Amino acid sequence: MNGTAMSLAGKRVVVIGGASGIGFAVAALAREQGAELVIASSNAANVAAAAGRLGGATGGTVDLRDEASVSGFFRNLGAFDHLSITAGDWGGTAFRATRDLDLAAAREGFEVRFWGALAAVKHASRQIAPDGSMTLTSGMLTHRPTKAIPLATAIGGAVESLVRGLAVDLAPLRINAVCPGLILTDHVKQMPQDRQRAYVAGLPLPRGASPAEAATAYVYLMLNSYVTGQILPVDGGGWLV
Ligand SMILES: NC(=O)c1ccc[n+]([C@@H]2O[C@H](COP(=O)([O-])OP(=O)(O)OC[C@H]3O[C@@H](n4cnc5c(N)ncnc54)[C@H](OP(=O)(O)O)[C@@H]3O)[C@@H](O)[C@H]2O)c1
Repeated sequence: MNGTAMSLAGKRVVVIGGASGIGFAVAALAREQGAELVIASSNAANVAAAAGRLGGATGGTVDLRDEASVSGFFRNLGAFDHLSITAGDWGGTAFRATRDLDLAAAREGFEVRFWGALAAVKHASRQIAPDGSMTLTSGMLTHRPTKAIPLATAIGGAVESLVRGLAVDLAPLRINAVCPGLILTDHVKQMPQDRQRAYVAGLPLPRGASPAEAATAYVYLMLNSYVTGQILPVDGGGWLV
């Protein structure tokens, strides 16, 4: 039912990064909408634990840093309908002030979130349903740079520009990105409270969001068959201020 399908019943949805955080919430919501789920990340134990918590999801291991791992993962996977990529490694030492930046670490900062996402899209595009979709992940710092982490802005910007190019190149496949603000995943909840508050201070909605609030954006982008090349912010109005 073109454009008006409001359920994922009968669809096969793959979430790379689905072992935790935003990806796990995407998987849980897609499953609620009737999808058959495959979750994947680089650590087999994390995947198995998450698949167990979801109940009924299949788990797979893939390392987005390694194209052979990515191509093998998609070859084994077979046909599917939608892909969400929420995998990320939080920048490591790439997230430093410019004057302290190690350039090798800066390059490395693009490995999972940019080059890894591109590898996934490349290999997924050979097997995904022609009316399927892929959704990548950028982040609020792309549009609201802060002191001391210019690379976070650059990586998110690269992902968003890639999405626009891919949406044209791979049409009629649909390619979009979600741009999350502060999402209160286990990783984020470990950050110092004052850092969390600083991210959201001054936003129209000055709070962190639940992973479930972020997940609805990914599921929306699977369901709406006329949206492509878009960046969907879930950031409490961060683009406005
Ligand atoms: N939470 C936020 O506030 C926020 C805001 C803006 C942007 N983001 C971005 O959104 C993404 C998800 O955030 P999150 O809070 O959900 O983080 P998270 O809980 O740390 O999830 C990241 C996932 O990526 C997987 N992963 C890491 N390296 C991988 C690799 N080489 N290959 C495959 N999978 C890999 C991890 O599992 P394994 O360790 O098992 O591989 C994990 O399941 C990140 O890229 C983050 O930068 C988050």
